[in-house]
Amino acid sequence: MARLTINGRSLEVNVNPNTPLLWAIREQAGLTGTKYGCGIAQCGACTVHVDGVAVRSCMMPVAAVAGKKITTIEGLATGTTLHKVQKAWLDHEVPQCGYCQAGMIMAVAALLKDKPKPTDADIDARITNICRCGTFQQVREAIHAAAKA
Ligand code: FES
Ligand code: FES
Repeated sequence: MARLTINGRSLEVNVNPNTPLLWAIREQAGLTGTKYGCGIAQCGACTVHVDGVAVRSCMMPVAAVAGKKITTIEGLATGTTLHKVQKAWLDHEVPQCGYCQAGMIMAVAALLKDKPKPTDADIDARITNICRCGTFQQVREAIHAAAKA
């Protein structure tokens, strides 16, 4: 058992403490926007925020995040107002199949919080998410647009 706070909602999850946070988010909280890709912290599809920091939830045990503030893609907007990264994603038509995009957006939102005007080098260093559809150029353009918003 662990008590998690996800997108401002507190819930008790009945899982082994070593269970990856990703499964608590998807199966206990029912929030399926966060995706499973590799399961070994390589692809970034499962990225969420824990106390504002981007983490790969497939390798983060539930026990390590109890009492912390977890935000998933479903909690990134403020009410009906999209986060500036979500808006830039729409404006630049970034997604193709979309599978990697929730994790990509969460990673970018955390980047812009730390570095509001990232350079291409900052983007290369911090956004290491993998997109099988090859949206990397659109991602870069949308990041720069969001940084100007
Ligand atoms: S599923 Fe977590 S990094 Fe790939
Ligand atoms: S948009 Fe298809 S994997 Fe990234």
